[in-house]
Amino acid sequence: MGTSANSAHAVPPPIRLRVNGHACEVPAAPGTALLHVLRNDLELNGPKYGCGLGECGACTVLIDGVAARSCVIPVRAAQGRRVTTLEGLGTRQRPGPTQQAFIECQAAQCGYCLNGMIMTVEALLRRNPSPTEQELRSELHHNLCRCGTHVEIMQAALRAVALKAAEAAALLAGLHDDQGGTAV
Ligand code: FES
Ligand code: FES
Repeated sequence: MGTSANSAHAVPPPIRLRVNGHACEVPAAPGTALLHVLRNDLELNGPKYGCGLGECGACTVLIDGVAARSCVIPVRAAQGRRVTTLEGLGTRQRPGPTQQAFIECQAAQCGYCLNGMIMTVEALLRRNPSPTEQELRSELHHNLCRCGTHVEIMQAALRAVALKAAEAAALLAGLHDDQGGTAV
């Protein structure tokens, strides 16, 4: 039948994604790794290709706020979910608190692992705003750094806790001010 011949050559529908708050469509095969779509189609180069096996953490993004290794996740699995990359945490001019912490602590040598370190700390702080050092350490345990900057990375992770807390306190103070303003 003509229908089956047509369907054999049918172009798959584009994949619909929501990345860093923006809706987008990409003409990718559904089984393509999310990492490749982010880097090659959307030009989001925060997530890095390290091992390609889900082992090193360099490609980490957030999916619905949870850390995920985008090198082993097919793009179809991200449809309808919120994807956040390093670019979604802040800008060069206004880095987010976790990014700022890593900048302040100069926690990079080559910097290749830092996307994964930052996104992993960010995911932890979103579900637990005041983790202990041990909790941070075990969260980062499966992120590899070949340069051995683990000491600075841990300092940055602890600094991120403090900066996130300061940001939350400032937001709360602003909220109180707003409420005071409307009540008067
Ligand atoms: S590149 Fe994804 S975990 Fe290594
Ligand atoms: S700073 Fe080079 S891999 Fe971590």
